[in-house]
Amino acid sequence: MPQFPAYRPRRLRRTAALRRLVRETTLQPSQLVLPLFVRSGAGIRQPVESMAGVAQTSVDEMLEDASEAAGLGVGGVLLFGIPDRKDATGSEAWNDEAPVQQAVRALKRELPELVVITDVCLCEYTEHGHCGVIKNGDVDNDETLELLAREAVSHARAGADIVAPSDMMDGRVRAIRAALDGDGFTNTPILSYAAKFAGPFYGPFRDAAESVPRFGDRRSYQMDSGNADEALREVWLDIEEGADMVMVKPAGPFLDVIQRVKAETGYPLAAYQVSGEYAMIQAAADRGWIDRERVMMDSLLGIRRAGADVVITYFARAAARLLASGAA
Ligand code: PBG
Repeated sequence: MPQFPAYRPRRLRRTAALRRLVRETTLQPSQLVLPLFVRSGAGIRQPVESMAGVAQTSVDEMLEDASEAAGLGVGGVLLFGIPDRKDATGSEAWNDEAPVQQAVRALKRELPELVVITDVCLCEYTEHGHCGVIKNGDVDNDETLELLAREAVSHARAGADIVAPSDMMDGRVRAIRAALDGDGFTNTPILSYAAKFAGPFYGPFRDAAESVPRFGDRRSYQMDSGNADEALREVWLDIEEGADMVMVKPAGPFLDVIQRVKAETGYPLAAYQVSGEYAMIQAAADRGWIDRERVMMDSLLGIRRAGADVVITYFARAAARLLASGAA
């Protein structure tokens, strides 16, 4: 490598045009996915207090948000449902008339080009708020698989472009793949939340999705924050079971995991900048302590630089808008 003074790294930093020319990592609206929370009714827009700019909406209002996102070139949306009623098994999850299924049909009708991803999990649908059925005080893995498979098939039947299981049960990708194939949905891809870490960063989301566990926590199924080798095993397991894309979540605190998963698997990789990451930036920006737009863009670029192909973020529209304005 050449040495100073022959090599002066500052030469290529002198103008915005030069910096743009040699930038290694780029962020495109098409690489962003916007999470949306849908509930039944009409004309409903209920703001989520801990997530400025995020709301639970009815399907009609959701279409407004999705169409704005599509107009900005955002790559896709990720749907979460808030059901009218919850029960022990989360049976609204596979009701073909529930909010998510209706939202998928409406989106495929109105905005056919926008990629529609559905979150497949039971925590929004169970009265206890856990991601599976409870037996002897714990989430029963094997009995949950069949229910997740039903939910995924119901989403595929509604027209989902991709189903994304986020429950962290062992073997769920295989169960969902088999169920989809059995019902003729051989072309519906699975994006598995493969390395999903348990922890405090999901706090605001649980308000948004009304999925706070009524007892205990999710540490018996989501991963321990210290484990990167295990994350790789989780990812390989899901790939072997048939995942088409994998996810690391949260994103910011797990950039090393994103980097390793991309380097070691080469699979299409999504990273989820979760509710807590979003809320921290919004809260600090609201107080004037940081520059909202620049911190937003740096946080997203960092996730891309680590190796994520797709970034799931509540900032999707704001980031796409900024990119379109040429200011980022
Ligand atoms: C459902 C699910 C969660 C998130 C995505 N899917 C919550 C959880 O596991 O408790 C979190 C997303 C976010 O925090 O933005 N299991």
